[in-house]
Amino acid sequence: KIKLIIDTDPGQDDAAAILMAHGLARRGLVDFIAITAVAGNVGLHHTSKNARIICDWADEADFPVYAGATKPLLRELVTAEEVHGKTGLDGVALHEPRTPLQPAHAVAFLIDTLRHAEPGSITLCPIGPLTNIAQALALAPDCARGIARIVLMGGAYFEAGNITPAAEFNFYVDPHAAAMVLNSGVPITALPLDVTHKACITTPRMNALRQTGTENGARLADILHSYERYDTQKFGLEGGPLHDPCAIACAVFPHLFGGKDCYVAVETQSELTMGVSVVDWWGTTGKAPNVHWVTEVDADALFDELRQSMLQLP
Ligand code: BDR
Ligand code: CA
Repeated sequence: KIKLIIDTDPGQDDAAAILMAHGLARRGLVDFIAITAVAGNVGLHHTSKNARIICDWADEADFPVYAGATKPLLRELVTAEEVHGKTGLDGVALHEPRTPLQPAHAVAFLIDTLRHAEPGSITLCPIGPLTNIAQALALAPDCARGIARIVLMGGAYFEAGNITPAAEFNFYVDPHAAAMVLNSGVPITALPLDVTHKACITTPRMNALRQTGTENGARLADILHSYERYDTQKFGLEGGPLHDPCAIACAVFPHLFGGKDCYVAVETQSELTMGVSVVDWWGTTGKAPNVHWVTEVDADALFDELRQSMLQLP
């Protein structure tokens, strides 16, 4: 079973991903080691607090949560309150977290853990801007040894952008970090909007979450309902896209997804196309692939795994 660290900026779909990971751990399908928080959808104060609140919901109040970067490597932080609300988790009541914040910085934790892990043993799932991961790899290139694979949510190629006409939010917020991670030589699987827009939380799926009869199933339905309004109105989707759960699911159930190994580069120079992921889908550059670019998902099966994981939680 895979050893998993989630790097995240919760975010309603991040919350779904984190709850899914706790459920998968209880199903014995993953060894969920830690969460590292990063600034993204909202500031780090909120994302690191939200990650701990979500662990409380899962009844995992001793789960290790670390706080990392407060802003991208070079650019000013761009947030997405219009999607996720002021707190990042608008739609449900939030409490003061019982899960403590670990004293170490997230980047120090990542370096230390990856350095001392068995080679190729840890799966990293970054589902926010890639600032923490890029910093760890830049400060301690040897820590790449400990990574089995990075399975990240980010980028867009066949779909248009969701924060600018061309760019996806996570890559746009820290394009320099995204470029560094993609060039790191670590095996990478990317779940871009090309696939996440095929995994939407429709009304029947939301109802199925409520019908789990669990507190978390009902709460997740409420959270996703609040977030879904933005994407259905703005992008004409059939429901809110389950962006971040796609990354967790792809790390654990890769057979539910389809894609292709490609060379992918991230734009860091032009304001107009900042953060755009340029995918050499047809191999026109002749450059060696650095990313497994995912474009297909069995959405019903993905959703059922999310539902089954919720059944494990209070
Ligand atoms: C990504 O941006 C965030 O708003 C979501 O949580 C997801 O990680 C989608 O572009
Ligand atoms: Ca996210």
